[in-house]
Amino acid sequence: MNQTRWTVLGAGSLGCLWGGYLNMAGMPVTLIHRHSVPAPDNLTLTPFQGNAEIPFQAELTTAKECPTESISQLIVATKAPDALDAVRGIAHALTPDAAILVLQNGMGAQQAIAEAFNDYAIIAACITDGAYRTSPGHVVHAGKGVSRIGALNEKGLQAEAAVLAQLQKMDLATEHCPDIYQALWNKLAINIAINGLTALDQCLNGELRVPARLARVKKLCQETEQVMRALQLSLPEEGLFYLAQSVIEGTAHNRSSMLQDTQKGKSTEIEYINGYLLDQAHTLGIDTPENQAVYDAVIARFH
Ligand code: PAF
Repeated sequence: MNQTRWTVLGAGSLGCLWGGYLNMAGMPVTLIHRHSVPAPDNLTLTPFQGNAEIPFQAELTTAKECPTESISQLIVATKAPDALDAVRGIAHALTPDAAILVLQNGMGAQQAIAEAFNDYAIIAACITDGAYRTSPGHVVHAGKGVSRIGALNEKGLQAEAAVLAQLQKMDLATEHCPDIYQALWNKLAINIAINGLTALDQCLNGELRVPARLARVKKLCQETEQVMRALQLSLPEEGLFYLAQSVIEGTAHNRSSMLQDTQKGKSTEIEYINGYLLDQAHTLGIDTPENQAVYDAVIARFH
């Protein structure tokens, strides 16, 4: 049987990680890289806790070069701020029944794609794996997680079982999530508590364990809880602050994704993390001064 091709939009660490594992599981892969960036020569992946650099195959192309109706399974692996425009850039290449899997961090980018491309099956993944590249074509699977997969629209609901069946052939853990909105919020709540502060203080996650910084983590968590409660989302029994502290403990040596972005001179995903909370809070009439302070400071310093 011919395997359906996966097209991965974004050839950064996440795109190479998913593209690599899909191809290593026998599926054909196209990797769309930016026009302005040269295509990597060799593609290799170091699996979790492995040493080997395993080669994988992917057809490398740019959005403009994608033929009409050539993409029936798309993975959007760009940073959140680039996601919607990137999908718009390949819209001509989508087949009418295409499934679009969105891997973005935070919240807002996935919803914008679901709104603009509601005629297609939109499915979100809530990711906890970590990966980084040591060269443009070599990705290291650094942290093992489980990606939770769930539909964002009606067509996504119809397509998700078939999509998941293919994803589960990969050596990258995925599972079905019946309430992806809640799962994305749970992850968002942790990112709200950790990412902005680590970027502002240029510190490791574990360095948030000093009283002055923990007091800010606590306020961020309290504000997030208020908003989540108003949206009738569930909260962890022990409270978000407790959960945030255990993530800080468990990832003490990590540089958060936002800290990494600032250290690479890139803009951040703050709009899709604390910024998303501010939007929701504003609509609900909830005051979130600590989130506003973190958001304003990150924008002023890094954007
Ligand atoms: O964004 C990140 O870096 C991660 O989600 C987390 C949990 C904050 C750990 O570094």
